[in-house]
Amino acid sequence: TTYRVASIPGDGIGVDVQREAQAVLDTAAQRFGFGLEWTEFGWSCERYAEAGSMMPADGIETLRPFDSVLLGAVGFPGVPDHVSLWGLLIPVRRAFAQYVNLRPVRLLPGTTSVLAGRGADELEMVIVRENSEGEYSELGGRHNAGGPGEFALQESVFTRVGVERIIRYAFELARTRQHRVCSATKSNGIIHTMPFWDEIFAEIAAEYPDVESEQLHIDALAARMVQRPDLLDVVVGSNLFGDVLSDLAAAITGGLGMAPSGNINPEGEFPSMFEAVHGSAPDIAGRGIANPVAQILAAAMMLDQLGEKAAGEAVRGAVQTVLDAGAVLTPDLGGTSTTGQLGSAIAEAIQSG
Ligand code: NAI
Ligand code: MG
Repeated sequence: TTYRVASIPGDGIGVDVQREAQAVLDTAAQRFGFGLEWTEFGWSCERYAEAGSMMPADGIETLRPFDSVLLGAVGFPGVPDHVSLWGLLIPVRRAFAQYVNLRPVRLLPGTTSVLAGRGADELEMVIVRENSEGEYSELGGRHNAGGPGEFALQESVFTRVGVERIIRYAFELARTRQHRVCSATKSNGIIHTMPFWDEIFAEIAAEYPDVESEQLHIDALAARMVQRPDLLDVVVGSNLFGDVLSDLAAAITGGLGMAPSGNINPEGEFPSMFEAVHGSAPDIAGRGIANPVAQILAAAMMLDQLGEKAAGEAVRGAVQTVLDAGAVLTPDLGGTSTTGQLGSAIAEAIQSG
């Protein structure tokens, strides 16, 4: 089999980490006997500066026939962040019904978690973030600009279909793991959407008596994640809550340089899109020191989704081996190696593994 993958390196360190992820995947493909055909698209803030848009008008149609999309990161100083987000990422997520944003977090060897020494060495959880509706909505507006009564309104949209499918996905996933789901809510302060979310959570929890379920307010859940992360397995949250929790989870398990994510269309009707949790990191862009592990792990999730699970496991195993050895580490991991050196070490570990 040969899989057709659309590669969108994007901006800043997105370009550097994408190069390493592609090389690692090519090595895995060779070793496991399948093909990867990459088609690169220069959709980025650079393109926006030149052409006035992040991607061409037919961008979505262009991506549709691909088996998957691997994205570096977009965003660069001078281009407002809402332009890069709403001009590329959000349209792709919505057009292809990538309603699950899956963010596995694991404490990897050789990394020092802020929780190190607090018994969190076996930390492993997954954040299931709703990725198509919720708080990230275009409904609303600004009013009475400049006047004393100036205000802004932002509506959230929670549909029954949207909430049911993400919560059900979380329970199904829990059945393949430790059989525990925790839902992020805030129904004490947000009185329309969050009680609706809670109600649906309770309905679906009743369908899964073999899975332990609990609900926590987002503030208490954030505290729990730092104090007792070992109690968490699958965490499900709305678009905003899931976004915040997944950066927090990444931070406590070794940093943004290690955290992958998948924007998944579970039905496989449209291509899914995989990316690191981190952004384009303009503060270190162009210096060749970005940690490529997050993007390489995102690429491994892509292999899983394509059905090449053995290859995905091999990539994760190679990352583990190289971090365990501790000889080739980027500066964020306390080393002095470059992005390219760490990427090559992981590719070599696949070959010899
Ligand atoms: P960021 O994730 O780019 O950087 C946050 C901090 O983490 C920086 O100090 C950075 O140097 C460090 N960091 C991130 N990834 C790293 C890696 N692989 N290796 C070593 N250090 C790493 O987040 P920030 O600064 O808030 O956003 C920068 C730009 O990225 C913005 O334009 C933002 O909109 C965009 N962004 C794009 C995302 C995407 O494409 N999905 C996601 C998040 C942000
Ligand atoms: Mg985020």
